[in-house]
Formats: sequence, structure tokens, C-alpha cells
Amino acid sequence: MKALKGNKLTEITQLEFLDLIKKFFRIEIDFGTGDGRFIYKNALNNLTTLYIGIDTNEKQMMKYSREIQRKKLNNALLILGSLELLPKELEGFADTVYIHFPWGSLLKAITQPTKSDLKKLSDLLKNDGVMKIVLGYNEKFEANEINRLNLPELDSNYIKENYTWEKAAQQTLDAYQKLFMH
Ligand SMILES: C[S@@+](CC[C@H](N)C(=O)[O-])C[C@H]1O[C@@H](n2cnc3c(N)ncnc32)[C@H](O)[C@@H]1O
Repeated sequence: MKALKGNKLTEITQLEFLDLIKKFFRIEIDFGTGDGRFIYKNALNNLTTLYIGIDTNEKQMMKYSREIQRKKLNNALLILGSLELLPKELEGFADTVYIHFPWGSLLKAITQPTKSDLKKLSDLLKNDGVMKIVLGYNEKFEANEINRLNLPELDSNYIKENYTWEKAAQQTLDAYQKLFMH
């Protein structure tokens, strides 16, 4: 997979990644990390946790990639990737996956997940891992994205009636059972 080191993209092999994660008690992923500030700030304060940011926008991530390099933080990684092209190497290790204020296909995948979206996101977590999502889902802040992606109004009624995560999780479970138990 491709990681940023300062301004440059470098390749990290699966073996190198497995070697790196041995050194940490926890692994936390920030999906759609933007400029990588969340990764940098947390990595500075928690040296025993490995923080991994993922985003499609290499240029944006360079901002804090340079800071990470300057401070020689070995517990912060910024990875070039997306929901559509997710590095396999990252699967199954995260104690926590954060998704903060997603846009575009990431926002769509959170509010109206397909089975495949749900599988990709949940595959990042280890068995007892937790996903924490914060949405700026409001006419004031996200009106363009909500209209552009034709997203539903995410009020308590929608959540109660559709509760897509639970539904999608159940559908995924059903699909797994069909695949592996018959
Ligand atoms: C509003 S920014 C939020 C950045 C950061 N999480 C924050 O809270 O400041 C949304 C981010 O989602 C990323 N994004 C959008 N679609 C994505 C996808 N399919 N996979 C990964 N990242 C995506 C964008 O590149 C952008 O950096």
C-alpha cells in the first residue's frame, strides 16, 4: 500500500506493516482523514497507539504528513486509499475506526450502505473493534452534498424506520450464513 512520508509516496509491504503493528497496543484508523490533523494530534499524545489516516486526497494529507515527519512520529501513518480502493493490508487490525464528517461516496456509504460498503468498513475492525461516526448532516453544513447525492433526511424517523446499518448488518449476516453455512 502507498503511504506518505513528508511530501513523498512510499510503498509499505504487508511484511513491513505486520512488523510495525507489533510495536503498538492499539490501532486506530481515521477514514477520510482529510489533512491528517486528527492522526498527527493523537499520535503526539498517545505513543503506544498506531494512528492510521486514509484518504483519497494525497495533497491534502501532505499538510500533516510533513509535521509527522518533522516530529519523527513512528506511530502515525497516512495511507492513500478509498472505500473503493481499500488496501487489503489494513484488514482486521483496528480497535477503532473513526469517520468524521465524510463527503461523497463515503457519506453515501454511511447513510445508505450497500452490503459491500458495510463489509469493507467492518473488515477494517478486529473482532471487538468499534466504529465511531460523526456526520455534519444538516441543511446548514452539508446541503450541497445531501442534495447532490440525493440522500434521505436522516431524522430520528428515518433511523427508526430504516435503520440501514442494522438492516445492512443483518443482510450481510444472512449473506455470510448462505455462503458459509450451507
Ligand atoms: C469534510 S472532509 C473531512 C476530513 C476530516 N475527517 C475532518 O474531520 O476534518 C471529507 C473527507 O472525505 C474524503 N473522502 C470522500 N470520499 C471518500 C472515499 N470514498 N474514501 C476515502 N475518503 C473519502 C475526502 O477526500 C475528504 O478528505
